[in-house]
Amino acid sequence: MQAWLCENPIGVDALTWKELPTPVPQAGQVLINIKAASLNFPDLLIVQNKYQMKPTLPFVPGSEYAGVIEAVGEGVTHLKPGQSVACLSGTGGFGTHTLAPAALCLPLPAGCSHEDGAAFIMTYATSHHALMDRAQLKPGETVLVLGAAGGVGTAAIQIAKAAGARVIAAASTDEKCALCMRLGADASINYTRQSLRDEIKKLTDAKGPDVVYDPVGGDFTEQAFRSIAWRGRYLVVGFASGPIPSLPLNLPLLKGASIVGVFWGDFAKREPAANAAMMRELAAWYGQGKIKPVIDRCMPMAELKAAYAHMGSRSVMGKLVMVN
Ligand SMILES: NC(=O)c1ccc[n+]([C@@H]2O[C@H](COP(=O)([O-])OP(=O)(O)OC[C@H]3O[C@@H](n4cnc5c(N)ncnc54)[C@H](OP(=O)(O)O)[C@@H]3O)[C@@H](O)[C@H]2O)c1
Repeated sequence: MQAWLCENPIGVDALTWKELPTPVPQAGQVLINIKAASLNFPDLLIVQNKYQMKPTLPFVPGSEYAGVIEAVGEGVTHLKPGQSVACLSGTGGFGTHTLAPAALCLPLPAGCSHEDGAAFIMTYATSHHALMDRAQLKPGETVLVLGAAGGVGTAAIQIAKAAGARVIAAASTDEKCALCMRLGADASINYTRQSLRDEIKKLTDAKGPDVVYDPVGGDFTEQAFRSIAWRGRYLVVGFASGPIPSLPLNLPLLKGASIVGVFWGDFAKREPAANAAMMRELAAWYGQGKIKPVIDRCMPMAELKAAYAHMGSRSVMGKLVMVN
């Protein structure tokens, strides 16, 4: 097998494409022939030694992937060779093969491509958990999505629409805003050239959004929070712009509003039954055509370094997927 190896976590430049022995699955494991792997934010942090999870060196990065099972280890009865699965195991995806814990593998629903499977779990699970569980989104409510053309943002638009909500998508370019409208957003705001607060006011008759989905952080957080509706729920999803913002606590008091933390990874570990039920609902929505991963482009696995550079350029819309 071949894989991108991280022997020294000092950044993308230090990754090397290496020939490695193809491993044999142990008890509870499966060997996957990887067909597609997507790039997620943590895939960059992990090779820079900046992610909370620090794998033993050397390791193969690539948190989320899909492929065909080639062999199963002892005790694995619910999966078999030849079956297509998606898996989010944290590492191992940027190569031709990997060992994965069988418990983390989800059989791909009928009609789901490996590319879609590799770009699904992290973004859709995060956005469903955020909107449906943490914010208790109701049909007819208005959701403001920041960074709406990104990975979790595009998933949030589709999930909010599937739930019967009205979506205002906010992003940094007209091209990104146009994509969000094609995905079903009811209105968009280009926050590079328009005032976020003024536009929200116009689009909500001064009432403000019931739910704000924020994976961006930085300067937009306080502006968006100041615009939120009475009894609004502000979802803290991530800080893609870098700085972690602070909020004056008089703001939630004045709006009777809630600041709601979202940590899908821990939700999945702490509440596995609820997470499994959510994944079943997402698979059903995929089958009904209500949601579909937005893939910016597919690139050959050997071009991983170029894909990382593209991810850092802030021009990606949806997800980047590496293919074998
Ligand atoms: N809480 C959780 O459970 C959870 C789960 C998954 C991901 N996350 C977090 O959510 C965040 C977004 O993840 P993602 O996969 O959607 O990332 P992404 O696809 O890169 O999208 C992030 C968006 O943030 C905006 N942005 C603003 N300033 C940026 C900058 N300086 N560099 C890059 N992007 C910038 C961009 O939109 P504009 O150009 O339109 O501003 C971009 O589309 C990350 O911080 C990630 O760690 C959290």
